Amino acid sequence: SRTSARAPQGALTVGGVDVRDLARDHGTPLYVLDEDDVRSRMRDYATAFADSDVHYAGKAFLCKEIVRWLHDEGLGLDVASGGELAVALSVGFPPGRITMHGNNKSAAELTRALEAGVGHIVVDSFEEIARLGYHAERLGRRPKVMVRVTTGVEAHTHEFIATAHDDQKFGLSLNSGAAAEAVRRILALPQLQLVGLHSHIGSQIVDTAGFEVAARRLTTLLVQIKDEHGVVLPELDLGGGYGIAYIDGDEAPDIKELADGLREIVTKVCVDAGLPVPRLTVEPGRTIVGPGGITLYEVGTVKDVEGLRTYVSIDGGMSDNVRTALYGAEYTAVLASRESQAQPVLSRLVGKHCESGDIIVRDCHLPADLAPGDLIAVAATGAYCRSLASNYNYLPRPAVVAVSRGECRVIVQGETEDDLLRGQL
Ligand code: LLP
Repeated sequence: SRTSARAPQGALTVGGVDVRDLARDHGTPLYVLDEDDVRSRMRDYATAFADSDVHYAGKAFLCKEIVRWLHDEGLGLDVASGGELAVALSVGFPPGRITMHGNNKSAAELTRALEAGVGHIVVDSFEEIARLGYHAERLGRRPKVMVRVTTGVEAHTHEFIATAHDDQKFGLSLNSGAAAEAVRRILALPQLQLVGLHSHIGSQIVDTAGFEVAARRLTTLLVQIKDEHGVVLPELDLGGGYGIAYIDGDEAPDIKELADGLREIVTKVCVDAGLPVPRLTVEPGRTIVGPGGITLYEVGTVKDVEGLRTYVSIDGGMSDNVRTALYGAEYTAVLASRESQAQPVLSRLVGKHCESGDIIVRDCHLPADLAPGDLIAVAATGAYCRSLASNYNYLPRPAVVAVSRGECRVIVQGETEDDLLRGQL
């Protein structure tokens, strides 16, 4: 994160707080979020996309406090379920700045979104157009709607998080004409207000070329809609998916350059076609909360598997960070509670679950004198770790604390044994 450093005795500090104090006061595993880092990334987006809307993708990590930060910093919010919507509404976030996503929104979710008056609903299927039309009419609402378009861009990322090739569940295909058909169907329903098109090509994408191709294709469809229907759609939502650095040598796109590049492409296509330039929205998730989060663990056992490597077991695992098991994600782990002059040895950082795939870092070098009680920090865990956490093996989900200028406060309580047993008959 932007404020992590080493204290004089060699312990890591984040937001001016010594990780040993964090572990002592809140236990481990512990998610630690550097508030100034997250807020400064929110502001960077607001500046880079000053003439556009920035809607944080709540799936990356959402809780009441994050919603308050978004509100303070003037961002909007994307939600992908009724539950995410409920978090936002619970702290009075302005519904007009919320976009509702999802490839299979339930009638209850659509109803809630309509009643709350969310700013946009992104439709993802023909059934949903009819369903939303029905509920909008029933409730006497006229929501602003966007069509999620599958642009055919092959994003270079893990198969499970690439979303714009044709053979996957999201969106309506540009190539097959399904997107154009969706536009026709929405325009035929007076209770729906079609305002734009949406594209999201995938996640943890470092090469910005894919975003630019998708933006060009989406804008070209805007021109075709004008030609076919005489309708000028005023908005384009270009999604999120920008990558962050997880390990040494990882690259991350520059947000300002990205914003300028996307704006230039959309502007050029529109100007050439004599169309007004639409208002843009982007939906970054990982780039806002990812880099400013770390997970703190305590080492429990250190097992030297002769001639192979050292297995370092920590007190969490795939229940608090499933990304390594799920996507083969790479992370950086460091000894956080002290400095060590010992030789770095090839290690694998593993959890305490009953699976050999329960790995947090597949290959890393940790000091040879690592011992039970040492604290390990895993970097860049602010996105898609707490939000994907589970109770596998009945492990409680860890607390989330926010640190800033030497102060720490709990923003999500850690689960207790009572929480784990709640609701069981
Ligand atoms: N907009 C839409 C419609 C999305 O589906 C997503 C992410 C985003 C925005 C935000 O993408 P971001 O900027 O955070 O990359 N669990 C996976 C990532 C799944 C992303 C799903 N959609 C992971 O841990 O890598």
